[in-house]
Amino acid sequence: MSIASQATDRVIIFDTTLRDGEQSPGATLNVEEKLAIAHQLKLLGVDVIEAGFAIASPGDFQAVKTIAEQVGTPDGPIICSLARAIRQDIQAAAEALKPAAHPRIHTMISTSDIHLQYQLKKTRSEVLAIAQEMVTYAKSFVDDVEFSPMDASRTEPEFLYQVLEGAIAAGATTINIPDTVGYCTPKDIGILIQGIRENVPNIDRVILSIHTQNDLGLATANALAAIENGVRQVECTINGIGERAGNAALEEIVMALQVRKHYFNSYFGRPVNADAPLTNIKTQEIYKTSSLVSQLTGMLIQPNKAIVGANAFAHESGIHQDGIIKHRQTYEIMEAASIGLPENRIVLGKHSGRNAFRTRLKELGFELSDADLNKAFNRFKEVADKKKEISDWDLEVIVRDETQNQVESGFQLEHIQVVCGDCTCPTATITVVTPDGKILTDASVGTGPVDAVYQAMNRLVQIPNQLIEFSVQSVTGGIDALGTVTIRLAHQDKIFSGQASDTDIVVAAAYAHLNALNRLYRYLQTQRIPAQVRV
Ligand code: KIV
Repeated sequence: MSIASQATDRVIIFDTTLRDGEQSPGATLNVEEKLAIAHQLKLLGVDVIEAGFAIASPGDFQAVKTIAEQVGTPDGPIICSLARAIRQDIQAAAEALKPAAHPRIHTMISTSDIHLQYQLKKTRSEVLAIAQEMVTYAKSFVDDVEFSPMDASRTEPEFLYQVLEGAIAAGATTINIPDTVGYCTPKDIGILIQGIRENVPNIDRVILSIHTQNDLGLATANALAAIENGVRQVECTINGIGERAGNAALEEIVMALQVRKHYFNSYFGRPVNADAPLTNIKTQEIYKTSSLVSQLTGMLIQPNKAIVGANAFAHESGIHQDGIIKHRQTYEIMEAASIGLPENRIVLGKHSGRNAFRTRLKELGFELSDADLNKAFNRFKEVADKKKEISDWDLEVIVRDETQNQVESGFQLEHIQVVCGDCTCPTATITVVTPDGKILTDASVGTGPVDAVYQAMNRLVQIPNQLIEFSVQSVTGGIDALGTVTIRLAHQDKIFSGQASDTDIVVAAAYAHLNALNRLYRYLQTQRIPAQVRV
């Protein structure tokens, strides 16, 4: 069944974590990291993965191509690349998407007067012609073409209707309406969508989509308002990351449609009590996807974030705890298990063997290769020597640290020693192995132990950078908890993040810093890739 014929009775989830999400400052991901997220998005059940903006850089092109090859299988999601309404962009997108079983080109051009006058420096009639011409051009490569009039919500409605009619006549299959600057209220969105449905004569030939930015904190509310008014595709990101204040959060939209299904059913022409889900998302994969995206982008989730924040299922007040003990639904509208949140059962300790370790990981949804399992098991044994009880949360962090944070090229930390105290000058001695195999040692003093580590490491790695953010979170409670350190560092106008966990937060800080430095190192390497990977 084509997605168009399925679309009237459910919402198509278009995930743009790897494109708009990656536009969050400091969220830069390398190809392997994007691929890991894309595999997880497939498990989550998204319908469309916007894998990147193929023309933007050789790395983006490669990421779209690799995801198209490895995730865009016949049973997999649609793989999409963004392209401005420019021939070279569309060619690059088409080339990168070639391996995908279900490719989509998403082409866009601004339509608001303010963008036309100050940014594009084009007239309305020029934009009208370009939109049609470029949709036709994209259609010459793929059947599935999405068109976005950028800044649609601030575009003069009559002109917007004309552009959309032209794009549909030229062959667009999805029309996406971006609230690019996050200016609308839910009521505005309703009026905008109704206006389009009433005034664009061929609108019924396409799937209508919405893209809401979160500048006023209204992105999810606006996306839901659009659904109530007939939109059947929502563009969203995991944890709501994205340009500026981010996008509508996938987990919020999906759980709103799930928890309030009986409310939304009528907008889909279903009986109020119909039980079939309104999206194809496997909600039990939400928590895992959210943690993975947070870890790889280095963008921490605020504790009170809806659905996936650490406090989303925590009950602090005595009255609430009393209610929860008596009957969960007194203060909970959904179960933690429905998003796949581990229950934090204490299962393993230092006497647990490889088999128990492997089995528990499998139960938690981690299928590791033998090599990764070995690495994770060795690390588990090290942690279990220091920490008596290893929870599911600890296990998850160990597996992520050992499998997803590892880089195949870059610097490796060999040894770290720190001296600190109230009557001594904090000093760190660090040994690293360089990418070409040299073993280097240096020492530095600092204002504190973490600063000393950073100074020593910077002297060894010799890549100019500035530390702009440092945070520590404990994975579980207790004095022996694993601490997760997240750092961000800046190099020229780019930001790189790193994350690592250990029972010793100074050691975690060292690994986190090295992870970020390795990302920076690898970025500098890709800058040297010859332009032939571009089309
Ligand atoms: O915010 C925006 O307008 C976009 C479009 C490309 C959909 O990201």
